[in-house]
Amino acid sequence: MSYPVLVAVAWPYANAEIHVGNITGAYLPADIFARYQRMMGRQVLMVSGSDAHGTPITVRADAENSTPIEVYQHFHHSFLDLFQQLGLTYDLFTSTHTSNHFRVSSAMFLALLENNYLYKASDMQWYAPSQKRFLPDRYVEGTCYICGYENARSDQCDKCGSLLEADKLINPRSRVDGSTPELRQTEHYYLDLGELQGEVTAFLEQRKDYWRPNVLRQSLGQIQAEKLRGRPITRDLDWGIPVPLEEMKGKCLYVWFEAVIGYLSAALEWSTLNGKPDAWRTWWHDPACRAYYFIGKDNIPFHAIIWPAELIGVGTKFDEIIESKPAENLVLPHDVPANEFMNLEQQKISGSRNWAVWGRDFLTRYDPDPLRYYLTVNMPESKDTDWDWEDFYKRNNDELVATWGNLANRVLSFAYKHWDGRVPDPGELTEIDKQLLAKIEAGFEKVGNEMEAVRLRAALGEAMGLATEVNRYLDTTAPWQAVKIDKQIAGRAIFTAINAINMLKVMLAPFLPFTSQKLHEIMGFDGQLFGSQYVQSIEDGLGEHSGLRYNLAGTVGEWKRVPVPAGHALRQPQPLFKKLEPKIIEEERAKLGKPA
Ligand code: MF3
Ligand code: ZN
Repeated sequence: MSYPVLVAVAWPYANAEIHVGNITGAYLPADIFARYQRMMGRQVLMVSGSDAHGTPITVRADAENSTPIEVYQHFHHSFLDLFQQLGLTYDLFTSTHTSNHFRVSSAMFLALLENNYLYKASDMQWYAPSQKRFLPDRYVEGTCYICGYENARSDQCDKCGSLLEADKLINPRSRVDGSTPELRQTEHYYLDLGELQGEVTAFLEQRKDYWRPNVLRQSLGQIQAEKLRGRPITRDLDWGIPVPLEEMKGKCLYVWFEAVIGYLSAALEWSTLNGKPDAWRTWWHDPACRAYYFIGKDNIPFHAIIWPAELIGVGTKFDEIIESKPAENLVLPHDVPANEFMNLEQQKISGSRNWAVWGRDFLTRYDPDPLRYYLTVNMPESKDTDWDWEDFYKRNNDELVATWGNLANRVLSFAYKHWDGRVPDPGELTEIDKQLLAKIEAGFEKVGNEMEAVRLRAALGEAMGLATEVNRYLDTTAPWQAVKIDKQIAGRAIFTAINAINMLKVMLAPFLPFTSQKLHEIMGFDGQLFGSQYVQSIEDGLGEHSGLRYNLAGTVGEWKRVPVPAGHALRQPQPLFKKLEPKIIEEERAKLGKPA
């Protein structure tokens, strides 16, 4: 079936480097899924960007005696570099600090206001008398009134995942100087979630048969247990998007209110960059479009409750305000396949303690595909998982190298040597050859079904299981021996194995795009399985911001069997993966927890 696919990927806060837990939590699964969907021939739009506003950025800037813009730009550029190296094929990776995003976020705010889903109220917020300023969100920490966790932030608890009401925090303390803040009256706009509860519940009910249990628990479960209350969506903060109302001068939109709007604004920006200003409607107006949101579990309430509530509340009004005709409803999330967390050597990953494997640092010593492989077999899809250096070493050597890399290399080198660089003529295929090919070909459907359900670990497991089948087939047919006695028999087995490998190359390509492309070329094919990535400098009024782009023109990757005929010319084989030395295990472990 063909329908457009929106791959919406969590926007990393531009206040820290990205580690393997972030990558396996959201960015990598999104890319695997997007690559698969493109091979299926669907119209894919994969968007995200740096989350540049709010207290995550200002707290860091304060701590470093720097400015929010410097902090955001530094990390934004680091993300562009990492994502390009990792092969994350964003159609656009932009940022929330663009005039386009300001405009779209303001329109969403005004649309909600006109539809009566916002109300203004005066409420108590934390205030630091010593500094004569309010202390929103991360500026105040204290004890969570729901689970008792002592280091909760005033807007969200990292332990139990609850969204908190700032004034209820127990034992509040200021992040700036440790002093005890006091509560003062201030006026803010609130999103009237109570009014939207019915529609949000209906939206969730429609999806409950296929959403992951952890996501349902934190969305449908939550709102069935407790009536939703209005949430303030503006803040007393000067770094961010100004509230588009004169009366609110000096206040900004809450970072979470506007960051999720990035999924929409990035689609508009992408359209404008491509000179097709209406193109975004394919993903945001066509009710058949499937929007998948790839996020970590700490982001569930924002994507499964608040963002749908914003979209429902806005209705057709967004189009009216930005004068896009005809005015239509916006597409609601189809799935929110949130992942759990990845730990590191049995401990929680901690940037401040340098208990982390950082993406860019890792890639100075290893290749991207082994990282993608290990992070997929260990992806925290249903429970927390653990990065273990010994396990990484073993999986690289025993699975990636032994099961897959050596299979391809052995077969292709043998053909190259004994059949003059060409695919041998098999003569008539026997039953066991046909059985193998049929079994591998059935993988397109089996692996594909797991992909469709966003069970990427299972999808990769299925594909690797098929690689093992090909190894078994070669153990049985033993072309390396047969060639000495009957070259025709050996040629038949090699022909069959080459055809099986060519199918596996396709099935593994979303996971291992770099080595699959290399294999594609070694197998004598031309063209790119996937499109190319590039960094584009964009001038949009708020200053320069570079974006990561993707161009799929001329790609040849398709989710189906491409037969390799007898006589087809191969290129000089080369190993696809490197075997790792056991000493890396201790070397890498020794680095953990030390100052970088
Ligand atoms: N910046 C948030 C985080 O890193 C994620 C934001 S996702 C968005 O946890 F959609 F809201 F942008
Ligand atoms: Zn809590």
